[in-house]
Amino acid sequence: MALSEDDLNAVLEDGIDAQNPGKYADLLTDLQGNILRGHGRDHSVHLFLKFKEGGVNAAKEWIEYFAKTYVKSAKQQSDEAARYRKEGISGDLFANFMLAHDGYKYLGIKPFKMPKDEPFRFGMKNESVRNLLGDPAVDDWEEGYKDSLHALIIMADDDVMDLLQGVNQMTQGLRQVAEIVNREDGFILRNSKGQIVEHFGFVDGVSQPLFLKRDIVRSRVNHCGFSKWDPRAPLSIILEKDRNGQTKDSYGSYLVYRKLEQNVKGWNENVVSLGKDLEVEPELAGAYTMGRFQDGTPLVMSDTPSHAATPTNNFNFENDTKATKCPFHAHIRKTNPRGDTGRAPAAPSYDQAFEAELNHRIARRGISYGDNDLTHEPETGSGLLFLCFQASIENQFNFMQAVWANQPKFVQVGVGPDPVIGSPEGSQNWPKEWGEEATENIPFKLWVKMKGGEYFFAPSISCLTNITSI
Ligand code: HEM
Repeated sequence: MALSEDDLNAVLEDGIDAQNPGKYADLLTDLQGNILRGHGRDHSVHLFLKFKEGGVNAAKEWIEYFAKTYVKSAKQQSDEAARYRKEGISGDLFANFMLAHDGYKYLGIKPFKMPKDEPFRFGMKNESVRNLLGDPAVDDWEEGYKDSLHALIIMADDDVMDLLQGVNQMTQGLRQVAEIVNREDGFILRNSKGQIVEHFGFVDGVSQPLFLKRDIVRSRVNHCGFSKWDPRAPLSIILEKDRNGQTKDSYGSYLVYRKLEQNVKGWNENVVSLGKDLEVEPELAGAYTMGRFQDGTPLVMSDTPSHAATPTNNFNFENDTKATKCPFHAHIRKTNPRGDTGRAPAAPSYDQAFEAELNHRIARRGISYGDNDLTHEPETGSGLLFLCFQASIENQFNFMQAVWANQPKFVQVGVGPDPVIGSPEGSQNWPKEWGEEATENIPFKLWVKMKGGEYFFAPSISCLTNITSI
């Protein structure tokens, strides 16, 4: 029997056991990896493709070959991880294949068979989408993102040489059917303690919606339960039925891809000057912008870093409703208000608002690029390849960026945009009465620049392996 609406909406006590998936078995076999949990490899190569004119059949044949040879399912990803834990054998080359709307059009897929999300159909270059997100004009994007993009390949491995060799081998056949219009190389950045960080030096990847048993059990132990924050999430926030899938449980997921350049020198200098203005240590000034200290300690729980090996995620803002500990504008409070919207004056009811809030969650799968030496302070050329999966771009990433991060009046008047990712350009489209608050209340200049991106859909594996007959 196919999975029901109830199965998709259920928040399971312990999540899905990928090693013993029961009724979720078909789903996990046909769903691409990296969606329900990150692929976890240290290095990745991202190739953006444009298929050759007049070569639809050859392109379809190549996609089938690629899917059969390289793409890993959620089940395979989990089996490889289990084998690694048991026998120490690392997983091999990991791969995803995604299509942009222009890719679906090129392949001749009928409109009613395409993923239906509206921003996906418009594409990230669309003017109304750019205005909503507050993105720069496409002319100012990096060359590789300006043109129409058909598809994205992600290949990843822990061993960078194996990865480059694998990519090299794979691209020989690929070049017959497609032009590689852009390439990004990503890597996991680590601090001296081996923790995963982003270029500003903050521990990253702590808070994620969780779907699988292993992640949920580990999170429960690491964060001493879910009393203040429950990371468990239903499949309905990340999956969309794949209209071209060939099994009863064929699903895919929307991927938002954005290249975000970080000016580390500018950020560091700004943290020092903000500290002077506020008469606090720079590390506290930095935490005011992010909502966590660099070591991951949530500001709402402590005004000094705790230096815990695993930063906690079991917290919320119920005892900081005036934001005297953690500012409302802080990046993690903007992008996950943990109940703040339920306390806003216009909230219908706490429960209703909180439920809607949870449905805006995204599964972040980003990776750093550029300079991998944390002692350097690059101004350009380094940053985050921001990737996130979701069931609705409109209700999740776009909403989070436009309505929460950019908006100065969230969740109260006078809060200002998110100092990490809020876009002042986005404010031009806001009601006039919000505008001035935006400029007056930016506590920090913006050191993250959007350099280009696109929306993709990660189709089910049975769609990809049968695409010549679709
Ligand atoms: C260069 C850009 C960015 C940087 C440096 C950055 C950095 C961080 C850091 C350090 C954390 C805290 C660690 C964690 O909870 O995992 C975090 C959390 C988060 N970020 Fe970002 N981020 C960036 C872009 C974005 C974008 C574009 C979005 C979406 C619009 C986003 C959404 C989130 C979310 C949802 C969380 C988790 C919040 C929570 O659940 O507490 N981030 N980010």
